[in-house]
Amino acid sequence: MERLQKFISNAGVCSRRKAEDLILNGKVSVNGEVIRELGTKVNGNDTVIVNGEILKHELKEYYLLYKPREVISSVSDDKGRKTVIDLIDTKARIYPIGRLDYDTTGIILLTNDGELSNILMHPSRNVTKEYYAKIKGFFRKEDAIKLSSGVNLDGVKTKPAKFKLDKYDKKSDTSYVKVIITEGRNHQVRNMFMSLGYDTIKLKRERYAFLDLKGLKSGEYRELSTHEVKQLYSLK
Ligand code: URA
Repeated sequence: MERLQKFISNAGVCSRRKAEDLILNGKVSVNGEVIRELGTKVNGNDTVIVNGEILKHELKEYYLLYKPREVISSVSDDKGRKTVIDLIDTKARIYPIGRLDYDTTGIILLTNDGELSNILMHPSRNVTKEYYAKIKGFFRKEDAIKLSSGVNLDGVKTKPAKFKLDKYDKKSDTSYVKVIITEGRNHQVRNMFMSLGYDTIKLKRERYAFLDLKGLKSGEYRELSTHEVKQLYSLK
């Protein structure tokens, strides 16, 4: 037996949080009866209907995509822009784990496994994300120290991070900076640079936890191995 909201998110429909909203809003029925209580337990023999659709358990799928620029990290886009889902050949209802900006490139994971997604997205999980940034101007040592120890974004201090100048190109007056953060706030890296007056010209995510982009070109993807999925679960 499993809690209804977990059952729905594990089936790949949406996150557990979203499933709770659907239940509370009367969008879920079990064996023909609308359920509004979050504590309800179900098993594989129950017929669960979400938003009028019978819930079928999909096999879990896990992808690592090298996201190109000008692709949006969501399942659909009302402006008709290309999404990360368009780049992956599957019928499963996968979605990205977290987001990269439209213009950010690099590693992004996609799955229909709500449980894993919840684990990795939880703020306490501190998943390490490594970026390579090209910014305007010379990146000063004291600014690297400030950003590494934390700056205020919207009144909340960022967690300890690592910002390190890799190289400076005098001719174009641009710096290349290695960044490691464990949070996933909206536009976090760009906003951190901006808080000290630096414009981000390019941003690429090179690593997510222990995963990198080895063997992939921009726009390409691969499935995660069972071992890698287990390792991600063990970040618990
Ligand atoms: N930080 C940003 O500012 N943008 C991203 O896409 C990812 C991290």
